[in-house]
Amino acid sequence: MTAMVEVSGARKVYDGGFEALKGVDLEIRKGEILALLGPNGAGKTTLISVICGLAMPSGGTIRVGGHDVVADFREARSLIGLVPQEVSLEPFEKVINTVRFSRGLFGKRRDDALIEDLLRRLSLWDKRDEPIRALSGGMKRRVLIAKALSHEPAVLFLDEPTAGVDVELRRDMWEIVEDLRRRGTTIILTTHYIEEAEAIADRIGVINGGEILLVEETDSLMARMGHKTLRVELDSPVDTLPPGLEGRGLTLEEGGRVIVYEYDSAAERSGIARLMADMTQAGLVVRDIETRKDSLEDIFVGLVKKQETAA
Ligand SMILES: Nc1ncnc2c1ncn2[C@@H]1O[C@H](COP(=O)(O)OP(=O)(O)OP(=O)(O)O)[C@@H](O)[C@H]1O
Ligand SMILES: [Mg+2]
Repeated sequence: MTAMVEVSGARKVYDGGFEALKGVDLEIRKGEILALLGPNGAGKTTLISVICGLAMPSGGTIRVGGHDVVADFREARSLIGLVPQEVSLEPFEKVINTVRFSRGLFGKRRDDALIEDLLRRLSLWDKRDEPIRALSGGMKRRVLIAKALSHEPAVLFLDEPTAGVDVELRRDMWEIVEDLRRRGTTIILTTHYIEEAEAIADRIGVINGGEILLVEETDSLMARMGHKTLRVELDSPVDTLPPGLEGRGLTLEEGGRVIVYEYDSAAERSGIARLMADMTQAGLVVRDIETRKDSLEDIFVGLVKKQETAA
């Protein structure tokens, strides 16, 4: 597997001395989708910035498509499309010109058919003659994507593309990413949503405090971490777990009104069916059930704890 992006020992110390990246090693394969997860301030945007040449690394080496991002800045940058976290667009410019100019900035010849295709795929074609300031926040995000794709980059960085967007746009975004992957684009995105990473990424990287905690195939990570909770609300509260339900790690909460069952999503589902059957057998009347999957935060806390224990 060819590496499209190679980050080795990357450090970033901001003016004032804050160390935002503490020696990051990361390889991103050609054609894969990698999701970077991490809390606010973890270093996600900083990492993207040093790879894209927007910030100077303080140490280590970074290559994109084999080009060193510092020594061969232009070659490396020409391969990269970036959708920044903050919306930065010229408010009075028309949508279509914004995207066209962006392509021009990369020294690519004008290609109206390509721009039209891009705007159509992003549902912006009808808005092409509107000034940016007349667009909604979600549409501006689409324009940022169109800009980033205007010069046909081999590697696309999406810094929280779905933060603060509605469900529909999120779905659209996922489809756009999937479509790009089919066209062979390598994609790195940051997100706070574990479901999002799970839905679209081939691999997930977790970053915290300027360090990569792990990079793993999404499937195996979800199987390892996919801890679920089933909460069963009873029609009337019980003092203790009835016989037949003991010894399964069930707990009673909310004054005996709720039975909580924690299980592994990788484990077989029949556990739940059996539990429900046994509850009926024990004479319990169920009012409501609810399942909850581990949030990124839970997974995160688990990882950090592990890291501390290992240290
Ligand atoms: N220009 C800067 N000067 C000084 N410190 C900075 C600068 N940019 C970022 N930092 C600091 O570096 C750390 C990492 O910031 P970064 O923006 O990379 O985090 P992030 O993971 O992208 O967070 P978020 O999820 O909030 O976008 C933070 O502590 C931040 O305050
Ligand atoms: Mg950020």
